[in-house]
Amino acid sequence: HIYPVILCGGSGTRLWPLSRKSFPKQFAQLMDETSLFQRAATLACGEGFAPPLVVTGDPFRFIVLEQLDTVGQKPTAVLIEPEGRNTAPAVLAAALALAQQAPDALMLILPSDHLIPGAGAFRATVRAAAGRADAGDLVTFGIEPTRPETGYGYLELTDPAARSAAEPQSLVRFVEKPDAAHAAEMLASGRYLWNAGIFLFSVRAIIEAYRAHAPELLDAVSAAVDAGTTDLGFTRLGAQAWGKAQAISIDYAIMEKASNLAVMPFSAGWSDLGDWKSVWQESGPDAQGNVCSAQATAIDCSNTLLRSEAGGLELVGIGLDEMIVVAMPDAVLVAPKSASQRVGEAVKSLKERG
Ligand code: GDD
Ligand code: MG
Repeated sequence: HIYPVILCGGSGTRLWPLSRKSFPKQFAQLMDETSLFQRAATLACGEGFAPPLVVTGDPFRFIVLEQLDTVGQKPTAVLIEPEGRNTAPAVLAAALALAQQAPDALMLILPSDHLIPGAGAFRATVRAAAGRADAGDLVTFGIEPTRPETGYGYLELTDPAARSAAEPQSLVRFVEKPDAAHAAEMLASGRYLWNAGIFLFSVRAIIEAYRAHAPELLDAVSAAVDAGTTDLGFTRLGAQAWGKAQAISIDYAIMEKASNLAVMPFSAGWSDLGDWKSVWQESGPDAQGNVCSAQATAIDCSNTLLRSEAGGLELVGIGLDEMIVVAMPDAVLVAPKSASQRVGEAVKSLKERG
């Protein structure tokens, strides 16, 4: 069996004011009534897949159960982090928890900030990569890059000609979040794919990788798992040991260092829903390029997102071009689409104001 591990920490500040600390974007109804977390859960289910392990924070434990229940699932486990310490500790905690009940299992790491419309194609791709993961490699999933994006990881192929093959190939190296110049170089070279942020590996292989490349993390997270307590079906990691785990992503801690890396090309559709511009894009703009929610009206607007989440509040845009307007009951965002990446600054400045 393949155990999906759904990561849902991270607060998604670039999707403020919809995404909040108390209700982060992965649980919100961003595109339609299905949340990104529920999409992740239903992406990897059915034949060959075990029920998911979810790694999240304490405030979200009941939302997780409720949203899984709505899509007809019960988790294998819900691991609760005393605090978010990025993805490397979260993945390791899941691996150590699985090592106790299914030491021979494969784990499929799934972020919860993505949109993959073709679940069937995705499952087939994962199954096609399983042999490679069983053999001990750490398998990444590669997306054909379309721009010199600096927010992603880059995967250097040993055989660029086989960049869309239906089977995995070995990687030369993994480069996480390059600067703009390197990103442009890698794109132009034609030797790279983007890292989708999805990983497939065996419980054994990933624990060995931490032993080799992040032994202190292994010590701290092992202690946190050993000190863990279970109540009402939730597993709480020990806070004291967890606090000693380095806050670092799996991309930097493991993937940039390991040599047993493989990539499985994935071309059936993937997008990262990290900011309002991508939500606008993926929501299917109308002929004028507008995306309007219920209670929102665009008059003479183009390429604009108008979204009202405030019950009873009518939102009307007139003569707007390339704008994002999001109205919540207690906060409104108005920004040009080109400033999508800067929305996190709103959260920062509101925090400073207290
Ligand atoms: N449980 C838990 N705890 N989950 C976390 C934590 C944490 O402390 N931090 C992040 N996550 C979750 C996020 O909610 C998200 O679903 C996933 O882990 C990935 O984290 P991001 O913070 O969104 O990573 P990123 O987007 O900067 O980079 C990753 O994804 C890119 C593709 O979208 C990397 O893997 C890149 O290489 C990759 O290209
Ligand atoms: Mg992300």
